[in-house]
Amino acid sequence: MKSSRPRRGYKANQTQRPSNLFLFFTFLCPSYNLTMQNWTIQKLLNWVTEYLTNKGVDSPRLSAELLLSHVMGLKRIELYTQFDKSVSKQQLDKLHDLVERAGDSEPIAYLTGKTEFYSLELEVNPDCMIPRPETELLVERAIEFLRTRTGTQFVCDLCTGCGCIAVAIAKNVPVARIIATDISAAVLDIAAQNIEKYSLKEKITLLCGDLFDPLVPQLDVEKLVLDSDRGFDLIICNPPYITAAEFESLNKNIKAYEPRIALYAGEDGLDIYRRLIEKVDEFLKPDAALMLEIGYAQGPAVKELLEQNGTFTEIKIEKDFRNNDRIAIAKKMSLLK
Ligand SMILES: C[S@@+](CC[C@H](N)C(=O)[O-])C[C@H]1O[C@@H](n2cnc3c(N)ncnc32)[C@H](O)[C@@H]1O
Repeated sequence: MKSSRPRRGYKANQTQRPSNLFLFFTFLCPSYNLTMQNWTIQKLLNWVTEYLTNKGVDSPRLSAELLLSHVMGLKRIELYTQFDKSVSKQQLDKLHDLVERAGDSEPIAYLTGKTEFYSLELEVNPDCMIPRPETELLVERAIEFLRTRTGTQFVCDLCTGCGCIAVAIAKNVPVARIIATDISAAVLDIAAQNIEKYSLKEKITLLCGDLFDPLVPQLDVEKLVLDSDRGFDLIICNPPYITAAEFESLNKNIKAYEPRIALYAGEDGLDIYRRLIEKVDEFLKPDAALMLEIGYAQGPAVKELLEQNGTFTEIKIEKDFRNNDRIAIAKKMSLLK
């Protein structure tokens, strides 16, 4: 059966492509004697792309490239410079398992254990949410803001997950000193790996607990906050913000695989914003910024929460590249006003 989904980057070799039945009985059927075939990178790329297309997987060519490059230990570009390279039986067995799981909606990032965020390769596993491209906009605004200021910049990244926001800021703003918190200890293990990978241990401190809770009892952190003239220059957060109704209708690749605690935030999806905005004032310096990622329909509600708090000026809601509300930015009033 032909897929109605568009096929990208797929013109070469179309006339030589074998049927899906052939594909099943050769590559995807484990009992078939794979050594009978000379499986090259080129053949596999085309066949895996077709399989994933027919399974309705997003970006099937890219997904095929990511899986094959992972199994072969090559960069994506090297797949194209080594098109005729044969793939070993061991590599085929591994690829077979991963392709089947991808066809069953398991996210490619969990299958390969990595993803790209803000031009950085980050480790991920099913304990953490996979960073999304929309969050890069939040990071962009944070970096712009921090670069307008002088001296060491104290940043708090709440709900850090795999540490993507903290790592991207630390890599791009050398004067940033970051405390990153998350309620999940398992998630912080992944964040620690990413911090280690980019040699940022001196710049990012990880703490486990509910929102601001872990900031208070840690003496060294209290000292950090005190040293920084009582408070952070920037508090940034991409919290869970999915509503009850949205959670029910999530696609399988998200609902069945990504952690619920990273997604769901109560009936209206605003639970974390309410609790965070209520307390955030205590942790911000005058003139400091609060930057939040928000759901596409949450702009008006989050703006209202920020206005009601009475601490903030210059409250802005910004849209993402799909023209959906995506970021809330607010500045804490300066002492002079
Ligand atoms: C939407 S994910 C964001 C992860 C990462 N910052 C990103 O941008 O991809 C939300 C994260 O918040 C954490 N989390 C959920 N509830 C929390 C809470 N009450 N306090 C701290 N972290 C929480 C989850 O464990 C998850 O890692």
